[in-house]
Amino acid sequence: MSEFAMSDEEIFFKWSPDYSVEINTIDNQHQELICILNHLFIAVSRRQADKEIAVILDDLVAYTKTHFALEEKLMQQANYEGFEAHKLEHRKLIERLDQLSKKFLIDEKQIHFELLSFLKLWLKEHIQDSDKKYSSALRNSGFSIAAWEREATAVFMEMVEKTGRWWRKIW
Ligand SMILES: [Fe+2]
Repeated sequence: MSEFAMSDEEIFFKWSPDYSVEINTIDNQHQELICILNHLFIAVSRRQADKEIAVILDDLVAYTKTHFALEEKLMQQANYEGFEAHKLEHRKLIERLDQLSKKFLIDEKQIHFELLSFLKLWLKEHIQDSDKKYSSALRNSGFSIAAWEREATAVFMEMVEKTGRWWRKIW
């Protein structure tokens, strides 16, 4: 078992097929995000060293930003009418995430749990509402996501190579 192996009772946020937006690449990215969040939960619960928690937090922020940028690119390519509103939701989350992770770096330890529950709730709602909306609009318009999927895969491969971290082996 790896150092990060999770027992069932340690799973903070469990993926459910209900969260699927019916676009594989996006589902994979959401699962990766949830996986990093679960690692953060374990590290916090086990009171791992601040340095180790900071690494996971950094990955979470970097992964979230890249995922949002890719999602926004896809919506833009597909001329999705809800693009601006969706982008605004992403911006607000990034601001809050930056705020909370900075607070963590300064001192307040209880921030961990605030950050974790906030992200879990946000992700659940965002995926089930806003993300499902754009994905069904894209499917209904018949927009082909093949080119975008190739690009998204390449972006994440590069990210994995750069950081040397691979939270969940999917590609
Ligand atoms: Fe989104």
